[in-house]
Amino acid sequence: MSKTIIVSNRLPVRTTEKDGEYVLAPSEGGLATGLGSIYRDGHNVWIGWPGLEVTEQKDQDRIQRELATMNLKPVYLTQDEINNYYEGFSNETLWPVFHYMSTYARYEQSYWDCYYRVNEKFRDVILETAEPGDIIWIHDYQLLLLPGMIRAALPDISIGFFLHIPFPSFELFRLLPWRAELLDGMLGADLLGFHTFDDSRHFINAVTRLLPINASSNVLMVNDRAVIAEPFPMGIDYERYGSMVNNPDVKDQLKQLKDNFNDIKMILSIDRLDYSKGILQRLQAYELFLQLHPEYTEKIVLYMIVVPSRDNVPQYIYLRDEIDKLVGGINARFRTINWHPVHYFYRSFPIETLSALYHFADVGLVTPMRDGMNLVSKEYVASRTNNDGVLILSEMAGASRELIDSLIVNPNNIGAITRAIEEALVMPKPEQYRRMKQMRQVVAKFNIAHWVKLFMTRLQEVKQIQQSMLARRLSPDMQHQVQQQYQKAEKRAIFLDYDGTLVGFNVNIDLASPDQELYKLLQQLTADPRNEVIMISGRKHETLSEWLGNMNMDLIAEHGAWTKKQGARWKKIPGLTDQWKQDIYSTLDTYTDRTPGAFIEEKSYSLVWHYRKVEEGLGELRANELTNTLRYYTNDKGLQVLPGDKVIEVKNVEINKGRAAINWLQDRHYDFVMAIGDDHTDEDIFKALPEDTISIKVGSQVSAARYYLRNFHEVRQFLATLV
Ligand code: UDP
Ligand code: G6P
Repeated sequence: MSKTIIVSNRLPVRTTEKDGEYVLAPSEGGLATGLGSIYRDGHNVWIGWPGLEVTEQKDQDRIQRELATMNLKPVYLTQDEINNYYEGFSNETLWPVFHYMSTYARYEQSYWDCYYRVNEKFRDVILETAEPGDIIWIHDYQLLLLPGMIRAALPDISIGFFLHIPFPSFELFRLLPWRAELLDGMLGADLLGFHTFDDSRHFINAVTRLLPINASSNVLMVNDRAVIAEPFPMGIDYERYGSMVNNPDVKDQLKQLKDNFNDIKMILSIDRLDYSKGILQRLQAYELFLQLHPEYTEKIVLYMIVVPSRDNVPQYIYLRDEIDKLVGGINARFRTINWHPVHYFYRSFPIETLSALYHFADVGLVTPMRDGMNLVSKEYVASRTNNDGVLILSEMAGASRELIDSLIVNPNNIGAITRAIEEALVMPKPEQYRRMKQMRQVVAKFNIAHWVKLFMTRLQEVKQIQQSMLARRLSPDMQHQVQQQYQKAEKRAIFLDYDGTLVGFNVNIDLASPDQELYKLLQQLTADPRNEVIMISGRKHETLSEWLGNMNMDLIAEHGAWTKKQGARWKKIPGLTDQWKQDIYSTLDTYTDRTPGAFIEEKSYSLVWHYRKVEEGLGELRANELTNTLRYYTNDKGLQVLPGDKVIEVKNVEINKGRAAINWLQDRHYDFVMAIGDDHTDEDIFKALPEDTISIKVGSQVSAARYYLRNFHEVRQFLATLV
């Protein structure tokens, strides 16, 4: 039976050493707590680091046996690997860059080398466990290379990847010296999940800018494998937090809280120690609040839990000292004999204590500078079984996209946090209920089980998409079948598109003239008396004449506006007008003036706006704007706006490659019809030609063609096998 293998740097249980004994306890952090309820099912297994250095073989074996009873499998790290891979590359390089704190980042070759080696180490443990049909689900930034490494070893296996932290904008990501390798590694997965739409957008942007890979919306083509990148906002175990309130231990702790904080309003703050969490700014805002609102003296408390984390990394040590100082300062400044304004704990707590606090606190204060999701905010909402309480949430947390009924603040705006605290403290109950109910619905529905199900279903779908593409690929076997059909045929019609089909994409449109190899191939193809070859292109008729006029073939130019039989003169479709060109030209010109690199090409019955030389991104943006504008202008004018590969073409509706191909075929009989093309406009040919046509799309986008080939090189190879 197939199984799911979850892989993350940290296992959901942490091994610690106490009096010479190893003890296991739950790990903190969103990833471990989020997936904690899933891995126990069936034969599933979770592979990861148990959280400390274990040197003795017998200890390793013992821990391994104990973990195995919980479906866990350890990857042991040496002290050197902990320093360079975990603290180093993961937390001193990737973490700060991905959280937009690039000034904290260190780019050390030794960190990278070790990161690479440890990803290989994880790969080896997975390969010991994985069997055909298994699903491998890899998590987070510590293992970005792993999907690629597994793909190389097991080309067909299903691999999902989820990033639990933000994916930064390209401007930050490009800072990493190993950026291309990291993306290549991630693209080993079939499905890449992110918390927010922005994260997935940033990822796709980085891939298309840094690698020779095309994306059509969220589908990336990686060596013929469709890879999908999209958002899956992670949820929590909603039921569990809701029902915890009835647990006797939680009830006891709640009673104690009520006794201790009678008449005092509690503001709750829970995070791992991390500069991304905005703890210092939060304390500053609270300090300002106390200063501005002396009437709240002895009436409120900030209950602040900071869970120790990565405490060998210099920035974390520094942060811890700063928090100590700031908390000490605030308490010293505002305390009274009976009251401390901040109750600060630097340790972790069991879920029962967290649950009691979540349920008790009047305000949840969650103000990270950057956070992939932030589960604490969702846990607070899930624990508010009375539907009251107010959540103050940073707009930089992924959770802010879903919890839109919280008080949303910019964590850099200390004044705004201060005002939000006041607003929360005086918010009337009915408004608290209204907001909290809305948020509870969201957290209830998009819970952790829902998240897992969505991700897994989508992973299956991606595999199906890949399968169906594989089936359409014109493999050597299928090419052989086509060859046999070709050999048997008495009379053949072969429609060939030019750009992108027989030659590659060239930034300079005039430089794409046929090379010697292509001339030779076309000569061979046209030399066979049973063949009629038709070059059907969007190019100007003058250009086709110049390049191919002397060859033994028919030409169809400008998408069908002109046709030329071999040896005869050019003929154009009757009744076409070009009266419209002046108006449209001036619109295109406006866009050309605004877009460095863009240019206009004028054909007899069409105008083309090219943006192949425009900066990536800007070209697409302008093209979008222009298409909308053109749609408006061309309405009712008998014109058509056609977006193509880095072009937008405006032409008469009567002109259409499909129609031209059908006209050409009229009253003739062929027992073999083939059409090869790469572009939007070639789809018209595929759709118009008889059903038994051998239609071949170049490139693997969605197409009406029966088969596809990867690129013009493959087209040439295939044609060469026919002649
Ligand atoms: N947490 C914990 N023990 C504590 C404090 C917090 O296990 O003493 C958990 C908390 O319940 C939450 C997780 O740690 O599930 C923190 O996840 P979040 O997404 O908020 O932040 P991350 O640590 O992943 O950056
Ligand atoms: C975040 C990361 C996790 C990590 C957790 C705790 O949630 O996304 O990958 O496990 O923090 O950090 P730690 O370094 O202790 O594993």
